Amino acid sequence: MIYAKVIGTGSYLPGAPITNDDLVARGIDTSDAWIVERTGIRARHFAAESELTSDLALQASRRAIEAAGVDVASIDLIIVATSTPDYVFPSTASLLQDKLGIRNGGAAFDVQAVCSGFVFALATAEKFIGSGACKRALVVGAEVFSRILDWNDRGTCVLFGDGAGAVVLDASETPGILSSVLHTDGQYSKILSVPGQVSCGKVVGSPFLQMDGQAVFKFAVKVLGDVAVEAAGIAGISTGEIDWVIPHQANIRILQATARRLDLPIEKMVVTVGQHGNTSAASVPMAFDVAMRDGRIRAGQNVLLEGVGGGFTWGAVLLKA
Ligand code: ACO
Repeated sequence: MIYAKVIGTGSYLPGAPITNDDLVARGIDTSDAWIVERTGIRARHFAAESELTSDLALQASRRAIEAAGVDVASIDLIIVATSTPDYVFPSTASLLQDKLGIRNGGAAFDVQAVCSGFVFALATAEKFIGSGACKRALVVGAEVFSRILDWNDRGTCVLFGDGAGAVVLDASETPGILSSVLHTDGQYSKILSVPGQVSCGKVVGSPFLQMDGQAVFKFAVKVLGDVAVEAAGIAGISTGEIDWVIPHQANIRILQATARRLDLPIEKMVVTVGQHGNTSAASVPMAFDVAMRDGRIRAGQNVLLEGVGGGFTWGAVLLKA
């Protein structure tokens, strides 16, 4: 059996932290108290005007490759999860491959599953490695959500930030990824969307994020709980044997409710939403990198990564660190 094992992680946050008070100073009709109480978010980062998603992805990827201690030329698969690609096409993964200096490489493509994107990308890379189709994958979540926020909608613009996270995934004889499970239910597409399109030289429809916050909240808590149980069941372990849960960082109240549903101490959850905000597909790999680098996650521990996002999509990957 060929396992897929994470051998290095990296992350990148652009610029300086933007606090809630900074948003107030920029003219948004909100307050630090409202944002902290409803979401747990204290700060987020925004990319500079000149920075693209592929630039953020490049920084996170370099750190992951350095942590893995591998030659960049040995990477034969790149998957970038993003909902804010540099262009309509080519894919951000193609642009990242070029920026990494890889020539005549293996497959490089984007995955679009919004805030579940990294989990979808990691599960996809695992299938490539498990089948023998490739040996070493770079899997990235990278976003510049600041570009799709309506700054006149205080109910959404205070929630999101920019960033990138990456992992290097290697073919291995020892475990690795133990299980992965992905779900989609398109009938909920309207509760979280950016319903614009580029057509005949114009943007048709809205290019800004729209959300029914309360519907998203209920949906997220239910599926983050269910999918954790499902992934553990497929791997043949109990949820009590999970050492760390790294959920999509949408909102502290979603994370607390998920922990309660799973009967899991909140201390076993890696929580970065306070400092990063919601960075969509970047949130899980950035939180993973934080907990790897500060030594919380130790070799051999069971780590559950889980995401939920527009589509609606949700999924989990359970792995041995
Ligand atoms: N600052 C101050 N007041 C605000 C703000 C703000 N930023 N935003 C909304 N309000 C006000 C509203 O105008 C409203 O005022 P009113 O009572 O005078 O009409 C009041 O706060 C309540 O508004 P609601 O929208 O009902 O607020 P709610 O309690 O639902 O909280 C929130 C909103 C935080 C978005 C909540 O619904 C939530 O946590 N949803 C989860 C959604 C989420 O996290 N999405 C992230 C993206 S999805 C994903 O990642 C999977």
